[in-house]
Amino acid sequence: MARRKAKQASEAESALATVSKAARMNGTATTKKAGRKRTTAKKTTAAAKIPAKKARGRFSEVKGRYCVRDMKLAEEGHKLIDWAESHMPVLMKLREKYSKTKPLKGYTIAGCLHVTKETAVLIRTLAAAGAKVTWSGCNPLSTHDAVAAALADDGISIYAWYGNHEDFYWCIERTIDQKPHLTLDDGCDLINTVHEKYQHIVESGQVIGGTEETTTGIQRLRARAEAGQLLYPVIAVNDAETKWDFDNVYGTGQSTIDGIIRATSVMIAGKNFVVAGHGHCGSGVAKRAKGLGANIICTEVKATAALKAVLEGHEIMPMDKAAKVGDIFCTATGVKDVIRKKHFLSMKEGAIVCNTGHYDAEINLVELGEVATSKRTIRQNCEEYTLQNGRKIYILAEGRLVNLAAAEGHPSEVMDMSFANQFMSHLRLAEAHKKGEQLAIEVLDIPEEQDQFIATTKLQTLGSKIDKLTAEQLSYISDYNAGT
Ligand SMILES: NC(=O)c1ccc[n+]([C@@H]2O[C@H](COP(=O)([O-])OP(=O)(O)OC[C@H]3O[C@@H](n4cnc5c(N)ncnc54)[C@H](O)[C@@H]3O)[C@@H](O)[C@H]2O)c1
Repeated sequence: MARRKAKQASEAESALATVSKAARMNGTATTKKAGRKRTTAKKTTAAAKIPAKKARGRFSEVKGRYCVRDMKLAEEGHKLIDWAESHMPVLMKLREKYSKTKPLKGYTIAGCLHVTKETAVLIRTLAAAGAKVTWSGCNPLSTHDAVAAALADDGISIYAWYGNHEDFYWCIERTIDQKPHLTLDDGCDLINTVHEKYQHIVESGQVIGGTEETTTGIQRLRARAEAGQLLYPVIAVNDAETKWDFDNVYGTGQSTIDGIIRATSVMIAGKNFVVAGHGHCGSGVAKRAKGLGANIICTEVKATAALKAVLEGHEIMPMDKAAKVGDIFCTATGVKDVIRKKHFLSMKEGAIVCNTGHYDAEINLVELGEVATSKRTIRQNCEEYTLQNGRKIYILAEGRLVNLAAAEGHPSEVMDMSFANQFMSHLRLAEAHKKGEQLAIEVLDIPEEQDQFIATTKLQTLGSKIDKLTAEQLSYISDYNAGT
């Protein structure tokens, strides 16, 4: 997509004296006044309070269009997005094809998904296909501020910044202000906000469908559908084979280890590495940590998942036991309170604890606070808690997704397939709407052909070829009478 510079935009920028903790963490802390020379946004700068009620720190904002940390970061963001584009060939092929026909013209898409360079490639592709796009981050610590600035510079309506704890839902609501026809979620926060607070835009026929990116979001959607509370059709992007079996496994596997190393710089080899949940994400993390020489211990609640871990050569034990021997802990369950008070109290001196599940509920930090006597920040994304028993343990990234908060999220190559699924699902929803086809109001699966198309295209871009079944083989596998 050609970059659309924000030439006519007038920018109001807040320069409040209070510098937020998030800004300090992000290395953007400053008390200088607004009004410095900018690389991209051209127009006026006026000291003004940002509309978010609780936000503190410095922001670049154009009312009704964007609120990001700092537009000066846009050039850096453009380079990162260019890099991601060169590693996402499937999505780029889709962009090339659909930028000519613009099948999403006339549709506004509100997205709530981690603002990374890969997400920016998806956003540019949706926009190239004709959609008007408006976006917010889906996690307080996963927005890459340079990418957010570049997207605002591209003319995308975006409300997101790293460290957005207080104004998380304010940002989501600003995207709903743009009257979306389609929603694109990662964790269901946007869909939930539409359902709980903006039902009228569904009842009026404005919203026609949505998509959901992650396992936890799908669980919530299914629970909503089962309770008869789902108001529009939502496609389960997470459940596509080319998403769940690749992004969650290989993407989370690599980027979680990346986040742990960036936040601590510890050696993985020789450590007792405890992975809670040997599902898609957990098995990927275990695989990669094992590759680096760690001894893997898995905890599980599902027998088949535990058995798979055993056959991978990992040890299986309950968390009560693992807590005593682990050096590094990583939760990947999507369930709350997996590590709690009694576990903290039995951990070894220096234990490192982090989470790669969607929400920060997996490690009970409230209970940790109850048994801690002091806390200090050792380095970015690494906090030391001294417990009543005198031992120190280290929590990474406030218990939030360590791969996105402390690193850059999944590699572009794997997000290529996840986001090709997102893009094609939005095409499907728009096409159905244009044809007057009423999709069932439920959680819909990705069609098998879409998975096969994405996998085939990915293989082609990798230069890999596969065999084709011969006519004889086809008839053999469909013959119920073929014997030995
Ligand atoms: N970090 C990321 O970038 C990223 C990427 C994709 C998904 N996710 C999130 O990671 C989480 C896991 O997703 P998934 O696709 O691996 O799900 P999954 O269903 O494949 O695996 C979860 C596993 O955790 C196990 N489990 C549940 N409760 C447990 C408990 N109390 N103790 C031990 N094990 C338990 C389940 O039995 C299951 O095997 C979700 O919250 C998902 O949204 C994160």
